[in-house]
Amino acid sequence: MSVLPLKIGMIGLGVVGTGVAKLLSEQQERLTKKAGRLLVLKKVAVRDASKSRDISLDGPVITNHWEDVVNDSSLDVVVELAGGTTWTKDAILGSLSSGKHIVTANKALLATHGKEVFDCARKNNRCVAFEASVAGGIPIIGALTQGLAANKIIGIRGILNGTCNFILTSMSETGGSYQDALKEAQKLGFAESDPTMDVDGTDTAHKLAILVQIAFGQTIPLASIDRVGISSLNSIDIHFARELGYGIKLLAEAWIYDGKLAVHVSPVLLRRHSPLAQVRQAYNAIQVMGDAVGDTLYYGLGAGRMPTASSVVADIIDIAVGRAQSTFNSMNLWSDSGNSSPLLSSDDVNSRYYLRLLVDDKPGVLADVTKLLAKHQISIASIIQHEAEGENTNGKVQLVIMTHLSKCGKFRVAAQELDFLDCVSGKAVHYPVED
Ligand code: NDP
Ligand code: HSE
Repeated sequence: MSVLPLKIGMIGLGVVGTGVAKLLSEQQERLTKKAGRLLVLKKVAVRDASKSRDISLDGPVITNHWEDVVNDSSLDVVVELAGGTTWTKDAILGSLSSGKHIVTANKALLATHGKEVFDCARKNNRCVAFEASVAGGIPIIGALTQGLAANKIIGIRGILNGTCNFILTSMSETGGSYQDALKEAQKLGFAESDPTMDVDGTDTAHKLAILVQIAFGQTIPLASIDRVGISSLNSIDIHFARELGYGIKLLAEAWIYDGKLAVHVSPVLLRRHSPLAQVRQAYNAIQVMGDAVGDTLYYGLGAGRMPTASSVVADIIDIAVGRAQSTFNSMNLWSDSGNSSPLLSSDDVNSRYYLRLLVDDKPGVLADVTKLLAKHQISIASIIQHEAEGENTNGKVQLVIMTHLSKCGKFRVAAQELDFLDCVSGKAVHYPVED
């Protein structure tokens, strides 16, 4: 008896959609062997069907109306690769309600409406596969749901945004400007349609919320993820960090401390030779600590056409062979039976800090600054102040202080008070340090 082909509808034929269409058409024979049945792209919805594209599709019907995909009763799977959280939510809920499985790379939608989407899938006995939603081509969802299933997860720490890592690499290695690097990341297809989501840490927070759901079984509102992005990062801080033996990376972290879950997204100074500090360009890396396995590390391209398509097509194959359905049922994500560990306030997290102040270059300034830090019991590990050079220093100089461990809340209060010292110009710049 011959096996029926898997009939696929796709919404979106942009960076990722084009990669998926390419893989499905160019690798058809190999993928059919893996899936045990033919994978047929039958219909594709786009915003503008007349647009010229990097791919010419002769098989599927192209439509300007996403509803044509959702309402096509011959389809088995809808692959949503358009992004956003408004009409794509309707498209996904409509597809599930009419009996189709979903594959999506839409982390914004899952992080904000995960419960509604997963409840709808459960109700209709369908599944949602979303490997591409976190870290592009790295199979981190599969690692957490299957490979590490025996473990109680203790912590997750990762570089989850390719655009930010690309910008940071360019600024630190070639002295490129933030704006030029962002433009290049957009040209290469790494950035979101609104790149503010990348650089302000929102995209990383979306991905962290998904990882926390899988690793800790807990739904965390996005508003409870303390987040700082890289948009206001100054190249001066990258240079001082390097002088101190560190690199700066945008890190997402979720950790269990004393039965409480701590989550945050922030630029962090990492020892230059540590594995995460070595992650360059659009690569991502995720460290996962399990109680049985110990420390594990996952690395690969976190954004871009073919790496992301690799994860999407893997999900399609999983649906074709029936694996995705059983994994989906056993995971029970975004369900009412999830965990609800209290969240640890970021004020109570212990960290070392990098602190940079623009100060008057005159006697007594160092004493004023250290006195204020001492008042808050913040201990100094090292200080850098270079002799002011050139004529345009206006009598000011950069003062960089590395602290010992202190509670973040206490440190932040001290940093705010520093802004009010007469000898300090502008705002104190500070980032956590991890050794
Ligand atoms: P693009 O902006 O390149 O593509 C979006 C696609 O959606 C386009 O083909 C567009 O059509 C289509 N679209 C937009 N509005 C409509 C509409 N109203 N009806 C039908 N189609 C519509 O995005 P990406 O491919 O970069 O990203 C897609 C998803 O994948 C997003 O959720 C993103 O967050 C996620 N993602 C992206 C990664 C990447 O590296 N780019 C990596 C991991 C996840 P048209 O072409 O006609 O404009
Ligand atoms: N804009 C995202 C990034 C795409 O740069 O990482 C991958 O999720």
